[in-house]
Amino acid sequence: MRKTLLLTGIFTPMIFLAFKFQDKNLQESMKRGKEVYMIHCQNCHMENGQGMEGVNPPLAKTAYLKDAKKNIGYILNGQTGEITVNGKKYNAIMNPLNYLDDIQIADVLNYVRNSWGNKYPIVTPAQVKAERK
Ligand code: HEC
Repeated sequence: MRKTLLLTGIFTPMIFLAFKFQDKNLQESMKRGKEVYMIHCQNCHMENGQGMEGVNPPLAKTAYLKDAKKNIGYILNGQTGEITVNGKKYNAIMNPLNYLDDIQIADVLNYVRNSWGNKYPIVTPAQVKAERK
């Protein structure tokens, strides 16, 4: 009993701190990511991720953001061919943006994946690195 209490007393604050730490990491990454977004994505996907109907798909509330690995792939390898985003068809070209470094890609994805009603887990530069061929 005492041991359980002791362990709970140690682990609960540790878990709390770990979450706090991750949240701070995410906030800082998103702040940097917004800068990357404004320079490299906003032209097409627009300021609030609403896209341009029939031309560039939105990023706000799209199911495509669920899969971090695929999201990294869009940036490293581009995306083309017909896709349906939020019920509308798009068939255009997003060129590879693989000149962005691992940190920039993680940051911009954290911004996009946690803005405009999106809420997905943090992406790390290590995850991006692992997807580079
Ligand atoms: C030249 C315009 C352009 C730029 C710049 C651009 N995209 Fe795209 N993006 C597109 C188009 C067009 C598609 C859909 C391509 C198709 O038809 O298959 C797309 C698809 C996507 C998708 C998957 C579909 C969706 O809407 O959820 C994501 C995610 C995405 N882009 C993120 C980004 C991010 C992040 C950046 C900046 C690092 C970026 N794009 C820069 C035009 C662009």
